[in-house]
Amino acid sequence: MMEKLVIEGGKRLAGNVKVSGSKNAALSILVASLLIKGKTILYNVPRIGDVWTMLDMLRELGVKVSVEKEFVEIDASVIEKYEAPYELVKKMRASFNVLGPVLARCGRARVPLPGGCDIGTRPVDYHLKGLQAMGAEIKMEHGYVEAIAPHLKGTEIYFDFPSVGATCHLATTAAVAEGITYIRNAAEEPEIHDLFNFLNNAGAQIRYIDSREIEIKGVESLKETSYSIMPDRMEAGTFMIAAAITEGDVTIEGIDPQYLKPVIDKLREVGCEVLEFENAVRVIGRKPIKPTNIVTFPHPGFPTDMQQPFTALLTIADGISMVTETVYDSRFKYLSELARMGADVKVEGRTAIVKGVPELTGAPVTITDLRAGAALVIAALAAKGISELSGLENLDRGYEDLEGKLNSLGASIKRIREESKEWVL
Ligand code: EPZ
Repeated sequence: MMEKLVIEGGKRLAGNVKVSGSKNAALSILVASLLIKGKTILYNVPRIGDVWTMLDMLRELGVKVSVEKEFVEIDASVIEKYEAPYELVKKMRASFNVLGPVLARCGRARVPLPGGCDIGTRPVDYHLKGLQAMGAEIKMEHGYVEAIAPHLKGTEIYFDFPSVGATCHLATTAAVAEGITYIRNAAEEPEIHDLFNFLNNAGAQIRYIDSREIEIKGVESLKETSYSIMPDRMEAGTFMIAAAITEGDVTIEGIDPQYLKPVIDKLREVGCEVLEFENAVRVIGRKPIKPTNIVTFPHPGFPTDMQQPFTALLTIADGISMVTETVYDSRFKYLSELARMGADVKVEGRTAIVKGVPELTGAPVTITDLRAGAALVIAALAAKGISELSGLENLDRGYEDLEGKLNSLGASIKRIREESKEWVL
């Protein structure tokens, strides 16, 4: 069965929309719940593909998981298995980060190495170097990482690049190591602060002692807790850009504008009016869309996850824009799909040169990764005619009912199911 989104372009978005809980905060907090020998209750967990995959991972480790209407309950009193299955890590690389917490709880862990993906090679060398520094013996064979550590001790870690995943993974593991750990040149995304708030609620002692420098005082054990996940910054940004490209007037509720300053700044630069409230942002799109230049950078820079959606907006700007991707080594693959809708883009090294065209035309396109999906939805909202988007599993992993929310703002999107035409030999 193949699913597609059929989008009729040209509809102006208007009204209010509420964002769901943050995918990236939820994933790292679910991993951290493995450290708690008891129950964890989590509210505002987004109902998205990556969360279901992470819950499957926890169940594979023998952890009890129950999904209620208002919350998700994790009971990690007992971790029965220390090996993570390949198919889950392959499906979602963030599940690799169970390595440290399982190692801390069981003294050993065996987790498949995550492969690359459509946005880059994405190695995990910082993760492994940090665990070794904490005293783990690491072996790699047959595509698996085997780690053994009778007990973990505090250490000093430095990242060549402020990696979000390595910061979450190693700070979480260090929370129950013996002694103090310092992480330098660490990432400082809001979702990491959310993870640390959760861990500190459970008795951990983690704090930023300087920008990009974290101190973790290891504690004996963590206690049961409940926590509400922060809102999803990237979902909010997606709706903001969708408002801009349809000359709409949309208020995104439940988001602190502080989290999205670079996106707000760039939307103003291209001519939008953006009003900031305590827990909401209102975006009023204006034509012509002016060109601008984007350079992605770890927080507080322009988020790399917003590069793809924002570039979709720039394809119909009134001039030439330059988009430079400094975080990933190949996050421009989606441009070939945008080009099928009439975008005029070319890539020189780490920079995409986006020459604005008067309008895009609807086309059948394929979603290759999560934020490429956001970019193609945004382009289809503004394109003349009908677009058909396939590869929805990549979109559904990070957006909860995206088409329902957009249709409530006036979009015309249908999700259709087609018999897949593959030959059954
Ligand atoms: C997280 O990925 C997010 N995923 C990504 O969001 C996001 O794009 C990224 O952070 C950057 O903000 C989750 O939180 C689940 P990184 P992560 O480690 O942790 C290099 C989305 O759309 N690196 O900060 O994998 C790496 O190659 C996803 O929701 C090493 O070299 O990102 C990359 O170039 C996509 N060695 C750069 O750091 C390492 O050991 C940033 O990667 C680790 C990372």
